[in-house]
Amino acid sequence: MNTAYNHVSAPSFVYGTAWKKEATTGLVIQAVETGYRAIDTANQLIHYDEARVGEALLALANKGIARDQLFLQTKFTPVNGQDHRLPYDVNEPVGTQVRQSFESSLAHLHTDHLDSYVLHGPYYGRGLGPEDWEVWAAMEQLYESRRTRMIGISNVTAEQLALLCAKAKHKPMVVQNRCYAAFGWDRAVREICRAHRIIYQGFSLLTANREVFIEPDVRAMAAKYGMGLAQLVFRFAMQVGMIPLTGTTNRQHMEEDLASDQFTLSTHDLERIETIGLG
Ligand SMILES: NC(=O)c1ccc[n+]([C@@H]2O[C@H](COP(=O)([O-])OP(=O)(O)OC[C@H]3O[C@@H](n4cnc5c(N)ncnc54)[C@H](OP(=O)(O)O)[C@@H]3O)[C@@H](O)[C@H]2O)c1
Repeated sequence: MNTAYNHVSAPSFVYGTAWKKEATTGLVIQAVETGYRAIDTANQLIHYDEARVGEALLALANKGIARDQLFLQTKFTPVNGQDHRLPYDVNEPVGTQVRQSFESSLAHLHTDHLDSYVLHGPYYGRGLGPEDWEVWAAMEQLYESRRTRMIGISNVTAEQLALLCAKAKHKPMVVQNRCYAAFGWDRAVREICRAHRIIYQGFSLLTANREVFIEPDVRAMAAKYGMGLAQLVFRFAMQVGMIPLTGTTNRQHMEEDLASDQFTLSTHDLERIETIGLG
């Protein structure tokens, strides 16, 4: 599902910019030139370089690919996910931290609005604490003031998502989670997303599920469709309603991953992959 309950849509594949360091600018330019239209980053220097994404956006604008042709998503990362290079004043209340981080993201990305602004993860492993509600309220204000077209949450459990959907003024429009075949590809969270018309973005589809690729029948399935194993998994993800992320650094893989929508898995094959990790 690429359209959220508030009728905002996202492209069906997202290019992720984590761990690219100084290669970030060149890879984002290459990804967009290959055909990706959605870019994921975070205002978190441990794993991302948002300013270098911004440099790529300036270069792309000069080449005729303007901001409004792209879907930009970044994240507010709470202090427990940051090092000393904080994009906000940690002595301020967390709502202020969100607003400071957001302004800094807009400056890095050379834009006046985002398409999606995501809470990188709740403050605690279970439940939602007062900090989470304060952060969410600040994000809701950004949404209401139209500075971001959607708000979302990442690294969220089914219990936390259900709570947020039940009590928030604005439910999330986007969820971004790591997807393990061993947990039915995050089935419990995906079911909540389907019920509430929340866009589900899946990451680590390849890296978290290496055991899937050694199954002989999965390899045979890829061969049957004339596709690679990465394409098989990305196509599976799309057909069960996810938007996949790829973080590839290889031009050929960029093209292959994007071409995952060029074939259709049968219902039988979809069911095999969906249940492969469930034992
Ligand atoms: N919210 C969060 O907490 C969070 C956490 C992690 C990631 N993310 C987001 O998700 C994005 C993607 O992360 P990820 O963990 O899914 O991916 P990733 O770690 O970037 O890894 C993708 C891996 O798959 C390989 N690959 C991709 N396409 C391939 C193909 N067609 N054939 C063979 N190998 C292929 C890549 O190798 P090559 O480079 O050689 O292609 C790379 O080793 C990140 O950049 C980030 O934006 C978010």
